Amino acid sequence: MKDTAYTHSADASTVEEALAADNHQGIVDSEGATALAMQNTLLTPRFYTTDFDEMDSLDVSSVREDWDKLIAQMKSDPNKGHFKKNEDWDHVDWDGMEPKLKAEFIDFLVSSCTAEFSGCVLYKEMKRRGNNDDIVTLFQLMARDEARHAGFINDALREAGIAVNLGFLTQKKKYTYFRPKFIYYATYLSEKIGYARYITIYRHLEANPEHRFHPIFKWFREWCNDEFSHGEAFALLMKSDPKFTETWVNKLWIKFFLTAVYSTMYVRDHQRPVFHAALGVDPDWYAHEVFTKTSEITKQIFPITLDIENPRWQRGLEAMQRANVDLADAKANGKFFKRIGASIRAGAAFIGLFTTPANKHTAPASVRLEPAY
Ligand SMILES: [Fe+2]
Ligand SMILES: [Fe+2]
Repeated sequence: MKDTAYTHSADASTVEEALAADNHQGIVDSEGATALAMQNTLLTPRFYTTDFDEMDSLDVSSVREDWDKLIAQMKSDPNKGHFKKNEDWDHVDWDGMEPKLKAEFIDFLVSSCTAEFSGCVLYKEMKRRGNNDDIVTLFQLMARDEARHAGFINDALREAGIAVNLGFLTQKKKYTYFRPKFIYYATYLSEKIGYARYITIYRHLEANPEHRFHPIFKWFREWCNDEFSHGEAFALLMKSDPKFTETWVNKLWIKFFLTAVYSTMYVRDHQRPVFHAALGVDPDWYAHEVFTKTSEITKQIFPITLDIENPRWQRGLEAMQRANVDLADAKANGKFFKRIGASIRAGAAFIGLFTTPANKHTAPASVRLEPAY
């Protein structure tokens, strides 16, 4: 049979088809956007690589029933065809957009596109290297979804005359090595926090549609359901072997990743004040809301949650945020001593957050959850 020519990544059935789709092709390199996506700082999305053989050796038989159900649900592909423009896509007046808002919104889209594509690259590589049928099937399905998500964000960016050159990124962006268990913690968390972020914005704009200044937010509900499923898969992978969540060393690692992921989100969101004002969202309220939802969800597998109600927590976040503002200023203006001072303050703030006592839980026997927000 002849290959089917897919015109849009939204309609593709596999990651290969999605990446070969027309909307992923012929990207005019917009240097600004690609250069932004190429950055590797503590606050920008990275690309990851890992020990794929070790990951391939995971055995999911202890969670077989839940696993098969989840895979069947992902194979049924309820969001096929969803991630492309349709009649709900309102006209976007990019030229009339307030310049600061435009800059912050583009920054948001580029960073989201890079994060989606980072997932795609990692999952696709695991699928390519693996021999374990369970693992290969899962990573193929997740890579398919992320290729669609990245393609859709690039569609939105293209209207503003820019796009992220994903082929270039794949070849040239630096890859950070993480041991498999760190991939599970970090990726599980980023999928679940991604769900919480998208659903919080979606529900907020549902109640306050006058703040929906761009149509892409209308797509966030189905979008976050994909991320929710991906998170479920990682929860099952961790559940398949108790050592991932039960040894005291790994509990410390979990606390480290929770602290890093939450505080990075806080600092990064506070870098986009105009974007959040346009959405009618107070970044402090938003952060608290997202942390609350994420913490509630992660009780499915993690033995601890961060005590985000402790006054130390908010104080630490604010200190970290101020240190980062000073750090950015010092870097931009070549102020060496200010830079050292701000780095020490950021590090101290992180240690303060990390050492805030956590809440302990007993993880439930059954892991699986459905999206509830
Ligand atoms: Fe995604
Ligand atoms: Fe995802």
